[in-house]
Amino acid sequence: MSNQTVISKFLLLGLPIPPEHQHLFYALFLAMYLTTILGNLIIIILILLDSHLHTPMYLFLSNLSFSDLCFSSVTMPKLLENMQSQDPSISYVGCLTQMYFLMVFADMENFLILVMAYDRYVAICYPLHYISIMNPKLCVCLVVLSWVFTMLYSLFHTLLLARLSFCGDNVIPHFFCDISALFKLACSDTYINELLIIVLGGLIIGIPFLLIVVSYVRIVGSILKVSSARVIHKIFSTCGSHLSVVSLFYGTIIGLYLCPTGNSSTVKETAMAMMYTVVAPMLNPFIYSLRNRDMKDALRRVLCKKKISL
Ligand SMILES: *[C@@H]1O[C@H](CO)[C@@H](O)[C@H](O)[C@H]1NC(C)=O
Repeated sequence: MSNQTVISKFLLLGLPIPPEHQHLFYALFLAMYLTTILGNLIIIILILLDSHLHTPMYLFLSNLSFSDLCFSSVTMPKLLENMQSQDPSISYVGCLTQMYFLMVFADMENFLILVMAYDRYVAICYPLHYISIMNPKLCVCLVVLSWVFTMLYSLFHTLLLARLSFCGDNVIPHFFCDISALFKLACSDTYINELLIIVLGGLIIGIPFLLIVVSYVRIVGSILKVSSARVIHKIFSTCGSHLSVVSLFYGTIIGLYLCPTGNSSTVKETAMAMMYTVVAPMLNPFIYSLRNRDMKDALRRVLCKKKISL
């Protein structure tokens, strides 16, 4: 249609690692990726096998583990492959697909954390009605709604991006197809895309964050009313892990988007992106299982049952 050359693939520059350290970092990332897969798989299998863990909280946790597992599988294999190969390219379709799934799983994480906060809120503030409020139908409904919504929402942004034309520069200074990096490369006007990302993205992250804060304020309010140390300890042990995951997830987002960036913004952005795409999915299973009596008991039960059946 015009004399522009249309780009069919992008170059992912990857991480700013000096060549002499490539092997070390390759081994490190491979170990982190395998830990993520293994840790999250163990949680999913444990919750599946042990009927004591078939409660809303653990079913949501199992969904979160599934989402974590997929989230790091969207970026890590490609990163590892590019570190080894001489040609760090990704096709146009591959790039958009990666961006789509990255958005789906990041938003899913966000919604699951919100659903888990609601679950803790009901459990602590309405303990007598917990079973009737968090019935299986509502749980499935919340999870399915979150999946459908995040998929449609990500599809919307991906289709909007697909309308842009790319010509000339095709180098992405990142280790995955980041939507803001793609905006910078586009040679058509990205005003509408960026506006929608800021407004809708702000709502999608901001509203759940506010609701989580509100639910924790009410949880703290109800803790202040009870005076038994044992009850307070129990509340802390069920909310502590969730609160750690909340801080990890929103901490990196706030650090990435709200803190002023200096000269070293690319390095900082890459480090932060590493934090939420690689480190957070790896840590979540450990946050939940190491401090948690129920998970340890379940592991013991599942292993013992296996031993008896053998
Ligand atoms: C996700 O949560 C739903 C609703 O609680 C549950 O039925 C389902 O088994 C969970 N899925 C996974 C993969 O854990």
